[in-house]
Amino acid sequence: MPRLVYLNGKFLPDVEAHISIFDRGFLFSDAVYEVTAVIDKKLVSWEGHLNRLRYSLKELNIDFTKTNDELLSIHRKLIEQNNITEGLVYLQISRGKAERDFAFPISEVEPTIVLFTQQKKIINNQKLLSGAKVISCPDLRWGRADIKTVQLLYASMMKQKALDIGKDDVWFVKNNFITEGSSNNTFILSKNGTLITNSLSPQILPGITRKSILEYSKNSDLIVKEKPFTIEDIKDAREAFSCSSTTFILPVVEIDDCKIGDGCPGEHTLRLRRLYINNVKKELI
Ligand code: PDD
Repeated sequence: MPRLVYLNGKFLPDVEAHISIFDRGFLFSDAVYEVTAVIDKKLVSWEGHLNRLRYSLKELNIDFTKTNDELLSIHRKLIEQNNITEGLVYLQISRGKAERDFAFPISEVEPTIVLFTQQKKIINNQKLLSGAKVISCPDLRWGRADIKTVQLLYASMMKQKALDIGKDDVWFVKNNFITEGSSNNTFILSKNGTLITNSLSPQILPGITRKSILEYSKNSDLIVKEKPFTIEDIKDAREAFSCSSTTFILPVVEIDDCKIGDGCPGEHTLRLRRLYINNVKKELI
């Protein structure tokens, strides 16, 4: 059965969904996106994704008129029609179709809106058993990583570089500090029991999973700090993990061929993951 997708007001089989070659998302990466996890056929942290979507649209001055309720009902219909029990919904909004010009179009253009679903095992992620191995690399992305744009080529190139040498992911470094992962935020647990994640700035995406983890861990026995950390801090840490909507919390056991802690997924990381899943399950939409 073909996958049902959404394009500009219509639900269509994926093979029938076509976008203009003049779309600014295609020509200039002039588009923003969100990826929302689905578990038990329901959306995870929906409000957070909506708020960030509105922020990204505002920062790029994309005039988008659909309401939050309309967006929610499109998400729900796609989950239902594609029978997604666990996976994700991808949403992308570009400025729309216009004659190619670096300046934004003067006349009014309709944004292009696309949604599709993907099945994915999020809860029983195979990488949980071994943990992920990452490499570091310079963060050469543009300076507004806080906007969730589809301009992802550098992250994609570096992820491939990691895979090509048998690793799982890349953590970016700027001015000696880790900014974030290729498509995730990063945490370490120091030997004295402090959970540390980089503070928010234009250099990182304000992750929805990151935000929930910070909230849920307030009630744990861990001290939580939002501040930058270095590769040396990671090598000296007890545990490390990355987090995103498509992995939740994923233990990281090695950076640049150096074991983190005992080189196995950390017990606090796995406990935080359970805490995270229990909590988000109470707030599914
Ligand atoms: N990526 N940082 C970057 C650069 C990301 O691309 C993502 C998410 C995150 C984590 O954000 P959140 O917790 O809101 O998913 C951090 C998604 C999953 C993607 O591009 O597929």
